[in-house]
Amino acid sequence: MGKALFVTGTGTDVGKTYVTGLIVQKLRAAGHRAGYYKAALSGAVPDTNGALLPGDVLHVQRAAGIPPGGPPAVSYVYREAVSPHLAARWNDDPIDPDRVRRDFARAKDYYELLTMEGSGGIICPLRWDAAQKMILDDLIKMLGLGTLVVADAGLGTINAAALTVEHLERRDIPVRGVILNNYHAGDAMEEDNRRMIEEMTGVPVIAAVASNAEELDIDAAQLAALYH
Ligand SMILES: Nc1ncnc2c1ncn2[C@@H]1O[C@H](COP(=O)(O)OP(=O)(O)OP(=O)(O)O)[C@@H](O)[C@H]1O
Ligand SMILES: [Mg+2]
Repeated sequence: MGKALFVTGTGTDVGKTYVTGLIVQKLRAAGHRAGYYKAALSGAVPDTNGALLPGDVLHVQRAAGIPPGGPPAVSYVYREAVSPHLAARWNDDPIDPDRVRRDFARAKDYYELLTMEGSGGIICPLRWDAAQKMILDDLIKMLGLGTLVVADAGLGTINAAALTVEHLERRDIPVRGVILNNYHAGDAMEEDNRRMIEEMTGVPVIAAVASNAEELDIDAAQLAALYH
């Protein structure tokens, strides 16, 4: 039975997948059997045969060198680039929490360190129908995971990061760190953002990722310690 960590973010497109690729790459380079799983992916692009390509999965597998042949890395793939609850409704294919629990358990059994990526931000609705209402934070609680928050390094991030951390803590979900993405070392505002997020939330900013970074600037052992 492996350990796992949930990567969430302050919103969609902040770089959860990009940062996760660097995380899994670093862990694998240190000799860990590290893998990736995502419950629901929307905005999948069809290939020439019409099969939906799960972009986030393909990116992390390529960036981190995860060999093929493992358990399913994603449970639900939707074509429409909308919130999973809406894509699920349009496709009449709602997320079944039991299936996610099973797929997650398989991936966690198979890998030593499993990184699970969320969809959108922390209160992204995953399912919203008469039978069930499920938000991303419900999923994290259901799986009993601790989190890492990816936030953009630029203007507006103090507010977004602090609100995300506050929400997670209100739901008793552990927050193990923040990673700033698209960070410009030497930029006075971004350096202040880094300090302010740490002071206001009490959560350490464990790394800052530059644009097009090819490696995560953090010790692999420190990273591995975030997995429980
Ligand atoms: N540090 C970076 N350097 C270069 N490109 C980046 C970086 N971070 C993100 N990107 C690019 O920005 C886009 C959005 O990033 P990414 O897909 O990682 O966001 P996300 O938070 O995972 O989005 P989603 O909510 O859809 O899962 C992608 O095209 C990605 O390659
Ligand atoms: Mg992503």
